[in-house]
Amino acid sequence: MSQTVRKAIFPVGGLGTRFLPATKAMPKEMLPVVDKPLIQYAVEEAQAAGIEDFIFVTGRGKHAIEDHFDVSFELDTMLRERKKMDQLSAISSWMPSPGQISYTRQMEPLGLGHAVWCARHLIGNEPFAVLLADDLVLSETACLKQMVDVHAEIGGSVVAVVDVPREHTNRYGILDVESDDGRLASVRGLVEKPAPADAPSTLSIIGRYILQPEVFEFLDKQEKGAGGEIQLTDAMAATLGNGSFHGLRFEGKRFDCGDKAGFLEATIAFALSRDDLAPAVREIIKSYADE
Ligand code: G1P
Repeated sequence: MSQTVRKAIFPVGGLGTRFLPATKAMPKEMLPVVDKPLIQYAVEEAQAAGIEDFIFVTGRGKHAIEDHFDVSFELDTMLRERKKMDQLSAISSWMPSPGQISYTRQMEPLGLGHAVWCARHLIGNEPFAVLLADDLVLSETACLKQMVDVHAEIGGSVVAVVDVPREHTNRYGILDVESDDGRLASVRGLVEKPAPADAPSTLSIIGRYILQPEVFEFLDKQEKGAGGEIQLTDAMAATLGNGSFHGLRFEGKRFDCGDKAGFLEATIAFALSRDDLAPAVREIIKSYADE
């Protein structure tokens, strides 16, 4: 049986320049989809997958994330006094327990691989998950839970993948597929952001990974890849051959919230998935469609 995935890394050090001016004084991970910040969706997804240790790789100007995952004493006291129990639950029921969250700083923006490497001492020698809060997944079963279940069955490394139009391969880590049963693709190669003509497939990694600790051996070398950055994809590629590596076409829909149109689509989709908002939002959409 494969070792349980207990720890997850959340790289949250990025600058979020694509969302300026909104992200001038606020971390991009705190942008809300409906009424919840992106990072909270990622943490709740990890909780639903059984994660117990939440490791944030953070940077300057990201205090709002730490405050969000801490008790807000004044708000808490005020809501308790006013007996606003629903609101009290909305600010606290999802919080990991004291001691379950750790923070480390990336210090230099050298790439996703570097961000993950910064958490190596907090991971140690066990499999771990990585979640990028920019990628939001709407699904019945949490995307990471689907991956954890696959990992429990077959072990090795598992990444969540989607098929993208060929002209978009230069935005993602792309799989070179050995065999594919339509749900699980066995991986023999990985390329970071290949040009459409060079891409070995159109199966793209979204920001959900279950990785083996061996990946740190390659990240230790600090080799730069695509865009001059230390790429997680390159380190994963270097581990191929030591154990299995699969891409999972998960059940659900993924939204690229690092992109303005993707973010807006996520807002609409998540609002429509909520009973309290769906009827009103449907009316609003209809009124624009009629224009
Ligand atoms: C990162 C990874 C890339 C992956 C993508 C998913 O790229 O480097 O392999 O496909 O996340 O969102 P970024 O979006 O940070 O450029």
